[in-house]
Amino acid sequence: APTIRQLLASPPQPSAASVTVNGWVKSIRRQKKVAFAVISDGSSDTGLQAVFTDVNLAKHLTNGASVRLQGTLADSPGAGQEKELKVSDAEVLGACDPETYPMQKQALTVEYLRDHCHLRPRTREIGAMLRLRDTTTRAIHEYFHDNGFVHIHTPIITSNDCEGAGETFRIAPSASDPSIPSALDAKPSEYFGHPAYLTVSSQLHLEAAASAISRVYTLSPCFRAERSQTSRHLAEFWMLEGEWAFTSSVTEVCDVAEHAVRHVLRTHASSPDMDALWKQHPSEAKRAELQAYADASQPWTRLTYTEAIEVLAKHHAQTPGGAFVFPPAWGSSLQSEHERWLADTHVRGPVFVTDYPASLKPFYMRVNDNSEPGRETVACFDLLVPGMGELVGGSLREERVELLEAALDRHGLDKADYEWYLDLRRYGGAPHGGFGLGFERLISWMSGIESVRECIAMPRWAGRMLL
Ligand code: 4AD
Ligand code: MG
Repeated sequence: APTIRQLLASPPQPSAASVTVNGWVKSIRRQKKVAFAVISDGSSDTGLQAVFTDVNLAKHLTNGASVRLQGTLADSPGAGQEKELKVSDAEVLGACDPETYPMQKQALTVEYLRDHCHLRPRTREIGAMLRLRDTTTRAIHEYFHDNGFVHIHTPIITSNDCEGAGETFRIAPSASDPSIPSALDAKPSEYFGHPAYLTVSSQLHLEAAASAISRVYTLSPCFRAERSQTSRHLAEFWMLEGEWAFTSSVTEVCDVAEHAVRHVLRTHASSPDMDALWKQHPSEAKRAELQAYADASQPWTRLTYTEAIEVLAKHHAQTPGGAFVFPPAWGSSLQSEHERWLADTHVRGPVFVTDYPASLKPFYMRVNDNSEPGRETVACFDLLVPGMGELVGGSLREERVELLEAALDRHGLDKADYEWYLDLRRYGGAPHGGFGLGFERLISWMSGIESVRECIAMPRWAGRMLL
């Protein structure tokens, strides 16, 4: 049997043709001579209205029950749907006790749904979000394939901490235990006694691939042991990462990130799931703004970090009592209040902030030759978007062996662990760069869903994992 979405999209059948519909009862309304039920199979935001002129057939239907219905599709006289199913036969496949079933009509709180995330996909919002993740994934693959990129699968278990921020989850002892004579004697469940982590980013592995395949990308899970309890942080999230050789300008890296995001936004210019999600928010105007960013004839605004600090400091000084909790100063990280002001108020749109101080960024970023003395910067960017802050981070990668070795030293990293990474430079190293985009942040920004915790089916965040 087709899904409800396929059924409604298929060309009209001879009116007598009998169809089968599988799904769950979303609501049921009984009158004396007729009963109406909305059936959903999750294939689209709208379910299908089923009309029972033989009310006996609807007798055992309750909210949440799984059913198989036979009937004919007919034009619906009622408002709200084009087609309805005139039911000739109904079978309850799985009953659902209406006395105890929690997913009733009245809205459940976000917290309640987080506590019952095994039932959450049944809500309209989470259903639409899951389909939005699917269409977004397809748009991403489309963009990269159209631009000559090859999709690579990178490892999840890794020996390095790519970002060097100490936010890795360890799945084994932190150092090889000398009392364990061989890997075979070590506990297999502790990764055979070797230090091993869950990846925080696929970048370093992608660099190895890009050193041969030129243009590569991946969409994969990443893990961060950070305590952040914000609406933008998860302990397990998905990251889109692109990496490519033969680029020597951070402008070009920004261009690719911008075009990829614009492509995704344009793909969703008309999408019933997006409509359903935005309808639940007070500000539908924000959705029009997103489309305007996608269609803008100019590239999105680009500012250097130094310029950003200047405008932030000026705004701070001109605001009685100061505009920010953290006074902006060259050499300090941009706080989320700074990022939000830049995107929400100063630019009123997406903004790339480029060329941050080297001291604020990971070891692999390419040092700018034109740095001012005492103010060394790296060729990198963060893409900040209104209502959210950082959506993408990227950079050129240091391809000069001596400078990369110096950076490893500066960051207190052991060169022995990075011999393979240095090899990529020693043997035909090409100038290259790339970026990483937080998939749940993109979903949240596009859909207006307030927290990334509602942008993934089974969220994991500081201290929380229910199933
Ligand atoms: O800025 P980040 O840490 O950059 C990297 O990991 C680079 N190695 C990526 C690269 O160049 N290939 O992370 C990239 C993006 C952030 O901009 C943010 O959108 C998202 O990943 N992100 C998170 N999303 C949800 N929860 C978290 N805890 C996140 N940490 C980062
Ligand atoms: Mg970042």
